[in-house]
Amino acid sequence: MRELVRTQVSTPGPQRPRRLRTRDALRSLVRETRLEPAGFIAPLFVTSGRNRRQEIPSLKGHARLSPDLAVAEAHRLAGLGVGGVLLFGIPDAKDAEGRAAADETGPVPATLRMLAAERLPLALAADVCLCEYTTHGHCGVLDGERIDNDATLPLLAEAAVAYAEAGADVVAPSAMMDGQVSALRSGLDSAGRDDTAIVAYASKHASVLYGPFRDAAGSTPGFGDRKSYQMDPANGREAMRELELDADEGADVLMVKPAITSLDLLARARDRFDLPLAAYQVSGEAAMIEAAAERGWIDRRGAVLESLTAIVRAGADIVVTYFAADAATWLRQR
Ligand code: PBG
Ligand code: ZN
Repeated sequence: MRELVRTQVSTPGPQRPRRLRTRDALRSLVRETRLEPAGFIAPLFVTSGRNRRQEIPSLKGHARLSPDLAVAEAHRLAGLGVGGVLLFGIPDAKDAEGRAAADETGPVPATLRMLAAERLPLALAADVCLCEYTTHGHCGVLDGERIDNDATLPLLAEAAVAYAEAGADVVAPSAMMDGQVSALRSGLDSAGRDDTAIVAYASKHASVLYGPFRDAAGSTPGFGDRKSYQMDPANGREAMRELELDADEGADVLMVKPAITSLDLLARARDRFDLPLAAYQVSGEAAMIEAAAERGWIDRRGAVLESLTAIVRAGADIVVTYFAADAATWLRQR
């Protein structure tokens, strides 16, 4: 056997960060980031009809809901202290211009009217885009195979006004058209809706992580991809420019997405802007956690809370997350 030789090394001196990690009471005393259900927004997919619930295979625990069932779900979320809901519409019919997006009898306005009447302590937000409503699945109208930016703007503004009139506190343009925040602001103001806030999807990358959502919303582009309007995931300075433009155009809240691939952008945005910041933990982020948890490869609760904590630590005040109800439940148990 080899003789054990104790090597001489220096000890840490007075600085011992481990002192504050010795037991849970101390760890929680010095915790820098605390999650609160009030900062979560839950996405909801709404359809027409009554008592209709269609499970979404790619988004575990989520379903396309008719307005009455969406209201029931909103009651549950409010009871858990969740801060808000973000509505996405699944229309009965689509056309090339996505006209159904602005139809005041569509699923989103119908749900908003019912939710507004309930006076729940929830912020009511509606996503504003054309992709769920167009036959080709792009976020704007076409000119040949080109996405026509400026022809799309009035259609987005009309949809936003319809949602505001149905009771949305917040509209959230996600089409990544240049000038969309200005278009919504002036459209809302001229309709007398100067109180309706705009959460701008300002930094939105062309990400593979939206795949499960597109299954849920039936919004996969019929040809090509979204790279001519959503940003290249390689670009961070461009993201700062997009955020700056949306702030200048009158956005009330700036959002980045996906969340986990944008933590650097959240941190930079936190230093640069004093507007509230939101992050969207998108469908693919949820799917990765669900799939690994299902195989027993990851602890689901731990992964959800750790990812949400990282997003808030990076600088997000608000997190749109498919785990809003679960995380709120766990936080109340702690
Ligand atoms: C619509 C929209 C998308 C998401 C939010 N709004 C899909 C897309 O841009 O393709 C993604 C949300 C998610 O993946 O959870 N433009
Ligand atoms: Zn879209």
